[in-house]
Amino acid sequence: MNTARLRLFIFLFFALLFGSVQAGQKTEPATPAAKGRKVYTGSGGCVACHARDGAPIVQGAPNFRDAGWQRKKTDAQLARSIREGKGTMPKHAGPESDIPALVAYVRSLAVVQTNRPQK
Ligand code: HEC
Repeated sequence: MNTARLRLFIFLFFALLFGSVQAGQKTEPATPAAKGRKVYTGSGGCVACHARDGAPIVQGAPNFRDAGWQRKKTDAQLARSIREGKGTMPKHAGPESDIPALVAYVRSLAVVQTNRPQK
């Protein structure tokens, strides 16, 4: 193999490698909660009123870290509030497919209380 062809070969090898890494970054996150976190902290705008860790920022917002609060709500209730809005919370402007992911992310924020007996 002459040097020109070898250089071309090396160039193509790295171009393909780089291309596939870039393509990999564009794929959907692996779990619903990971997808939910992306929307929650990004285009969904949830962090304006609910902190990244689920603590309330605006008055009246629930604390998603509170496992007791989480137990009182069904997934369907949370989905409905995100879809339709609730009180001062606006309805989610993004696609319907975001909703289960957002619910999964909100669920993942509950902090397990190890100093209290579990029911
Ligand atoms: C403008 C501020 C604001 C934004 C933005 C906002 N929320 Fe809320 N959210 C609230 C408030 C206030 C409540 C409490 C509503 C009530 O109970 O009256 C709430 C309640 C909730 C609840 C509990 C609903 C229930 O049934 O008790 C969930 C879940 C929730 N928000 C998720 C989200 C998600 C996910 C986003 C982003 C897509 C978001 N919120 C964006 C202010 C906001």
